[in-house]
Amino acid sequence: MSSDRKKWSIRSSDVAKRAHNPIRQIVDKLKLDPKATKEFISLSVGDPTIFGNFNVDKSANEAIVHQLNTFKANGYPPAHGTLAARQAIATKFGVPEAPLTANDVIVANGCSGALEMCLNVLCDRGQNILLPRPGFPLYASLAETRYVETKYYDLVPEKNWEVDVVQLEKLIDSKTACILVNNPSNPCGSVYSKEHLKAILAVASKHHVPIIADEIYWDLVFKGNTFYPMATLTTDVPILSVGGLAKKWMVPGWRVGWITVHDRHGAFAEILEGLLNLSQIILGPNSVIQAALPEILLKTPESYYAGNIKQLELNTKISVDAVSKIPGLSPVKPQGAMYMMVGIDIPKFKDISSDVEFSQKLMAEESVLCLPGECFNYPNYIRIVITPTVDRLEEAYKRMALFCARHHK
Ligand SMILES: Cc1ncc(COP(=O)(O)O)c(C=O)c1O
Repeated sequence: MSSDRKKWSIRSSDVAKRAHNPIRQIVDKLKLDPKATKEFISLSVGDPTIFGNFNVDKSANEAIVHQLNTFKANGYPPAHGTLAARQAIATKFGVPEAPLTANDVIVANGCSGALEMCLNVLCDRGQNILLPRPGFPLYASLAETRYVETKYYDLVPEKNWEVDVVQLEKLIDSKTACILVNNPSNPCGSVYSKEHLKAILAVASKHHVPIIADEIYWDLVFKGNTFYPMATLTTDVPILSVGGLAKKWMVPGWRVGWITVHDRHGAFAEILEGLLNLSQIILGPNSVIQAALPEILLKTPESYYAGNIKQLELNTKISVDAVSKIPGLSPVKPQGAMYMMVGIDIPKFKDISSDVEFSQKLMAEESVLCLPGECFNYPNYIRIVITPTVDRLEEAYKRMALFCARHHK
């Protein structure tokens, strides 16, 4: 059979055409003024390493150097992760109410890779997935690329961003493949109570819909709050929990994530096999870090985690105090993670008509970058990343106050 092509005509695939990162399109509009004299301060990227104040514990570096020097961790690891790495994840995250063995763990390329596998194994083209609004934009990007419909359940700011459970239930139909729950939350910094998580689980149980629990901010919670892994609160809802080293260990660039499979009464038998199949396509994270994972997960001293929480709590206090005093802005106090959502009272501003315009002008005039709520499907808010150093945060809020004073009616 001969080809009838007479010239080059190469089109990108359907999948590539559908692939998009909604943050990118918005952030591209937020330009630094080339004539700006003020030093640029980014409150926009959820990467705690940028300012040098949050580091991985030294013991993790030592574990990696040790593994390098054995010359034994340089080969291809098994596709779903080495037994030692999976065993360490099972030991760290398994509890009597939700026990884990190494066979229930799949190692992935970051939590993003873990999420991709979860969506791929649970959702077919034409089905739908229930996502939080506001929420982390990767969920929708993954779903839409795969022709999976996205339906949004609202988080209620007046209730510390709890899920509108009544609305959640109404969204479920015969095509609902799963519910994604993110706790603690990006972008909200919320941490759900046991009772609230149980209310969500009750809906999932009633309609037999499995859950993907994005628990990447595992235990990053402030005084007065407790983190409950979702799988510990149910005996009948099957759950895929995803996590990684990026946030709790402050090394997003290491690209290590995982899925823990919490089956209930065999409901996930096919799903575990499907995940193993999917993991065969592209190998997980690099062999050296996998080899060091048992040390990193099981030997990092408790004082390291406590130190990070203390710093985040201080930054939260500084952020809430400063932003509450700025007319036109209303922060929702975070309970964990590393973000704060701030409501903008748009009608009170004389020349700002949206959160995107607020962020654009703040960037152009004050060289401070915050992501508009639009990036998280939630207009009239901005999201502030609270990991910068105290002096950078204070400077950013000083500039934000000047900016709002100029633009407020
Ligand atoms: C809620 C949430 N899930 C997943 C991820 C992705 O994590 P990773 O960097 O390990 O891919 C992030 C990163 O910011 C996140 O905030």
